[in-house]
Amino acid sequence: MRRILVTSALPYINGHIHLGYLVEAIQTDIWVRFQKLRGHDVRYFCADDTHGTATMLRAKSEGRTEAELIAAVSAEHQQDLAGFGISFDHFSNTDSEASREICHDIWKALRATDMIVEKDVEQLFDIQEGIFLADRFVRGTCPKCKSPDQPGDNCSKCDATYTPADLIDPVSVVSGTRPEIRNAVHLLVNIEKLHSFLDEWTQSGTLPSESANYLKNFFLTEPLRDWDVSRPAPYFGFEIPDSPGNYWYVWFDAPIGYIGATNEWCAANGTSLDDWWKNDNAEIHHFIGKDIQYFHTLFWPVMLKTAGYTLPTKVRIHGFLTVDGKKMSKSDGTYIKAATYLNHLDPAALRYFYASRLSSKVEDIDLNLEEFATKVNTDLVGKVVNIASRTAKFVADVGLSAEYPDDGGFFADAAAQGDAIAEAYENTDYSRAMRMIIDIADKVNPYVESNAPWELRKDPANAQKLQDVCTVALNVFRQLAIYLAPVLPQLAEQAGELFGDPITSWEQARKPLLGRPVNKFKHMMQRVDLKKIEAMIEQSKEEAAAESVATTSSETTKWDDAADALAAEPLASEITIDDFMKVDLRVARIVEAKEVPEARKLVQLTLSLGGDERRNVFAGIKSAYDPADLIGRLVVLVANLAPRKMKFGVSEGMVIASGPGGEDIYLLSPDSGAVPGQRVH
Ligand code: 2FM
Ligand code: ZN
Repeated sequence: MRRILVTSALPYINGHIHLGYLVEAIQTDIWVRFQKLRGHDVRYFCADDTHGTATMLRAKSEGRTEAELIAAVSAEHQQDLAGFGISFDHFSNTDSEASREICHDIWKALRATDMIVEKDVEQLFDIQEGIFLADRFVRGTCPKCKSPDQPGDNCSKCDATYTPADLIDPVSVVSGTRPEIRNAVHLLVNIEKLHSFLDEWTQSGTLPSESANYLKNFFLTEPLRDWDVSRPAPYFGFEIPDSPGNYWYVWFDAPIGYIGATNEWCAANGTSLDDWWKNDNAEIHHFIGKDIQYFHTLFWPVMLKTAGYTLPTKVRIHGFLTVDGKKMSKSDGTYIKAATYLNHLDPAALRYFYASRLSSKVEDIDLNLEEFATKVNTDLVGKVVNIASRTAKFVADVGLSAEYPDDGGFFADAAAQGDAIAEAYENTDYSRAMRMIIDIADKVNPYVESNAPWELRKDPANAQKLQDVCTVALNVFRQLAIYLAPVLPQLAEQAGELFGDPITSWEQARKPLLGRPVNKFKHMMQRVDLKKIEAMIEQSKEEAAAESVATTSSETTKWDDAADALAAEPLASEITIDDFMKVDLRVARIVEAKEVPEARKLVQLTLSLGGDERRNVFAGIKSAYDPADLIGRLVVLVANLAPRKMKFGVSEGMVIASGPGGEDIYLLSPDSGAVPGQRVH
């Protein structure tokens, strides 16, 4: 008997369980159920991933504590996952004491082995909110291609990667204000120290070959960069014991949540954590998506190795889900929440469809909604359940034959397939397993068809033959139910009830049931109705629309701007529109910016008005802007101001800015879409 610990990636507390996450949960659950059916000692652990700034902000805006938020959302997540039959042995959350204990333990080992280094790190700070901003809380203009409104870590237009501090005109998405760069001491793990261990471990058959090769060719060829694992207060997480005021970054304690969940379960069950996490005879299998492989294949093994925990036996990596060939989209209604799906459709249908598409490769899978309906209706309703629904009723009174009839080898063949099907499950090659199973159904359906029990029953002289034909069909049906049990636990349960013999082991497929009653056949599986799919998409669209209204209105709540600025500089006397139109304001792009070394306040700008049209302007903004940050951005230029001769050259206009001066000078920018040369009026 193998001892196997299995995990799915921890869902974020700030998100919903949706059909994308269910690819992984279902993939993992099938594997867990398969191993249990094979008689192994298997435990499946997961947890909510709770820490980080997002949780802190959300709890604050909803007026409840983080603990209250976690309890409520975690209950929802668990309900959603239970709705799809995901059979965790324990589902915890990363904010638990059991998890904190392991964080401390691993940290102690990292310190003891001198793996932690300190560095001064620049991060953007939201002055209004008083928080450091994670990459995704900042947007601004891409420093490379100058596309506006890009995220803080990588540009969606040119794919450049950068740090939020590199963004031009960064804006905090939390407060809408311009963040400032602040330095803080961070703690980092020097993973390069274990480079040769990672070289070996990543290439030892633990990962899918695509991932192993990628790491070998692109990551492990160079020294590995230190991994930043701390964040300064305020941050929702665990405070680092030997570095007060600093907290472990969410990705440090997320995978530790796997051990934390095990720890909690062990305490409740009176067993030892070491039996699972410090035991060479225990296997550990992580199921994850391809987007988080670096955390699991570089950082995580370093943490485990350093602290003496068992390393993962396998990290099983899957691709993303697309719906009808496209990325899931809220406006198309294809970002479908688990709960929404369950309002309309049978979870078994999705479990089977995913199984029929999943392989051991790191490939994306597509939920084509029409194919989904056809596949489930054809295979499960039309082929598998059909065998039982067309035969069980004819033996309800007499039961199964006492001896197994000559069936030409159907049962024996299907029994012989058991090992190959099991191997496919073992390798997470579920699509192959499903094909082999449906092949069996494809063989037995013509047998039922040609023996036509509905005809046999008309003549009492055929009673034995009728019982024999139904005995064969029902026994093969039971084999199918056993082979499908990891995917369709409910069907296995119904098959168990039909024969009064619960399905508990893979081995049950080797021996037919004989001479026993057959219970009344109860409806087993519903067809997938396209109308229900449409209704589900419609509901998803409505939910997305309602959410966006809620977000917009909550953002308009607090605009309590102070009166100081206006008081400091009262309004000027009235002018006419003609007066105003005398001022020719133009959109211009800064194409060059340099310091004027001799001048305390000035930056020399070369502005483009489009084409070859250039202006040289000296702007008094040196105390607020670094010239290098200005290049590429759009500004507003007073273009018809008489040239002014200065000590350093002629200034041909003025760029518009506001603010009292010093560090508080703010250049005005047009919204995206404006182009150099356009008049502003
Ligand atoms: O990417 C995510 O959704 C993370 N919450 C996964 C964490 S998995 C693990 F490391 F805990
Ligand atoms: Zn870009």
